Amino acid sequence: MSQIAIRGDLLDLTRNPGLTAVASDAVRWRPDNWLLIDSGVIAAVTPEAPGPDWQRIDWRGHLILPGFIDAHVHLPQLEVIASHGTGLLDWLERYTFPAELRYADPAHAERCAQRFLDALLEHGTTSAAVFATVHEASADALAQAAADRQMRVIGGKVLMDRHAPAGLLDPAGGGIEAARRQIRRWHGRQRQSCAVTVRFAATSTGEQLTQAGRLLAEIPDLYMQTHLAETRDEVAWIASLFPQARSYLDVYARHGLLGPRSVFAHGIWLDAADRDALSRAGACIAHCPGSNLFLGSGLLDWQALDAAAVAVSLASDVGGGTSLLLPRAMAQAYEIQSLHGLRMSAWALLHAATRGAAAALRLEHEIGSFEPGCSADFAVWRWHEGTLQDWRQANARELHERVFAWLILATQSNLRETWVHGRRVAGPGATAPQHA
Ligand code: GUN
Ligand code: ZN
Repeated sequence: MSQIAIRGDLLDLTRNPGLTAVASDAVRWRPDNWLLIDSGVIAAVTPEAPGPDWQRIDWRGHLILPGFIDAHVHLPQLEVIASHGTGLLDWLERYTFPAELRYADPAHAERCAQRFLDALLEHGTTSAAVFATVHEASADALAQAAADRQMRVIGGKVLMDRHAPAGLLDPAGGGIEAARRQIRRWHGRQRQSCAVTVRFAATSTGEQLTQAGRLLAEIPDLYMQTHLAETRDEVAWIASLFPQARSYLDVYARHGLLGPRSVFAHGIWLDAADRDALSRAGACIAHCPGSNLFLGSGLLDWQALDAAAVAVSLASDVGGGTSLLLPRAMAQAYEIQSLHGLRMSAWALLHAATRGAAAALRLEHEIGSFEPGCSADFAVWRWHEGTLQDWRQANARELHERVFAWLILATQSNLRETWVHGRRVAGPGATAPQHA
């Protein structure tokens, strides 16, 4: 049956609620309502039960949220998550590059891409901007596995032509050609988009960055994703590699890589001129609080980015981050901003993982909310699970208190099921992916 009605407590945002307001008319709270899904798309939200043509699923007393959007995560790093003892540059050498070398085997890439996306779905995440590896087949495996699950994914073959093990380096000019082929195969097909995926400025020569910028200009709606100003050591290294650039961001800008579909992970060590440049370009920051804490990279100044009108989305950055659970990233982001004296609202945190991320990625018409016409990508969560959460929720008086306590305390066991494009894809009774 292609008409499905889901009953539960529906919560989404209609626009940006600002960083701190606890009372906001951007919050759309529809307890005990029906989410009507027709052929994978949201038809309506209504308090009245639908007619007999609709298959009914009763999640009364459960929280239903739009599927989370992870704005920055690495496919090949699930197997090195939680690696001990190093900061960014050493962590790349010791743990990350060895894991990525194994993706030279396309069968390994295929198996891992499927497991990776299933893991995202098991955490209530239905969309993501993903780094594959330098191997062309790894980006194809990611796109195929995402298409099989009908997930909205932005992905790309990583570009690197220096400062990495030989097995992870593109041959001169060859990386761009491989990226172009991959884009031709997948960009705009079956809910897949491609991104020019420059790992970071240190692992590409100026020549590769120039070619990447040309590729970005050539193809409509193409994304660009990379890392930016994550640690102080890295910023100093980039300054030594590109002495003519004003700043780290300026390296990307000079090579045509700063635009309205550019997604920069981290962006911790920026100045006011960088923030202005990001804002003027309409580029966004993927904030990765778990990774920034785990690798000891630094504490993002979200307020300064917000004041400069730069969109900030939330991201796990696994394997630098230690959890795929975006409520965990919300809690960590809250704690980091607390250190700056800023007390973010639950609404701002939720927005950055749903509608705000969708808007930053130019996908607001398709994901991030319960607007009619959007894809039915959502997750059903228990409001509370276990003694502590039961106790805390019983003590919550109003909606903000309930939702804030929920997102700070939620774990993977709060998730009941995840749906993508009107199909149950995680949780008991999930249907297997259909090869697209
Ligand atoms: N900078 C360059 N590569 C990486 C990576 O894989 N993870 C993180 N967190 N930062 C990077
Ligand atoms: Zn990263």
